[in-house]
Amino acid sequence: MDLMEAIKGRRSIRKYKPDPVPEDALQKIIEAVRWAPSWANTQCWEMIVVKDPKIKSELATALTKTNPALSSMADAPIVIVLCGKKGVSGFKKGEAATVKGDWLMFDTGIAMQTLCLTAYSLGLGTVVVGLFDHKKAEEILGVPQNSEVVAMTPLGYPTTEGSPPKRKEISEFVFYEKYR
Ligand SMILES: Cc1cc2nc3c(=O)[nH]c(=O)nc-3n(C[C@H](O)[C@H](O)[C@H](O)COP(=O)(O)O)c2cc1C
Repeated sequence: MDLMEAIKGRRSIRKYKPDPVPEDALQKIIEAVRWAPSWANTQCWEMIVVKDPKIKSELATALTKTNPALSSMADAPIVIVLCGKKGVSGFKKGEAATVKGDWLMFDTGIAMQTLCLTAYSLGLGTVVVGLFDHKKAEEILGVPQNSEVVAMTPLGYPTTEGSPPKRKEISEFVFYEKYR
């Protein structure tokens, strides 16, 4: 698939078929994440692949009832939870190298987009889910203190194509030479 086609065509999918995700497709997605860029190649990301319907429904309880992605947590055959190891990305000899502190959110963000684009290229749907009780999700999954849950996504075959939400005009976010 052409890269621009993937970037523009990927949509957040919130309705899934129950059909299983082929193991080779899952492994391709994991392999793609492996090649994402990261701070000094620190690769702080960790993934939890959840297929067990019981754990998926427990995870769904961490989402608010109004989260539009709620039903997809049970409907999709897989939920992938993206975690980040703390104090690794953006650190040099245990000290934060920049005022930004931990770059965990940045690196896991790139990893998530890599995951979503690869899934799309394989005909699979995803939706980044960030609005939930992270502490609750960490308890359910047994995530240790030195890591944190950042975001998750259902993974499966979409029931319908999503329609693209409107984007800003380029002139609204691109400046040349200096800020505005
Ligand atoms: C960091 C992040 C958190 C998000 N959290 C949620 C969420 O909790 N629930 C949901 O339904 N969509 C969530 N989304 C999906 C966005 O609503 C969606 O990407 C945006 O509306 C643009 O639509 P598109 O992905 O189809 O281009 C999230 C997206 C990002 C990048």
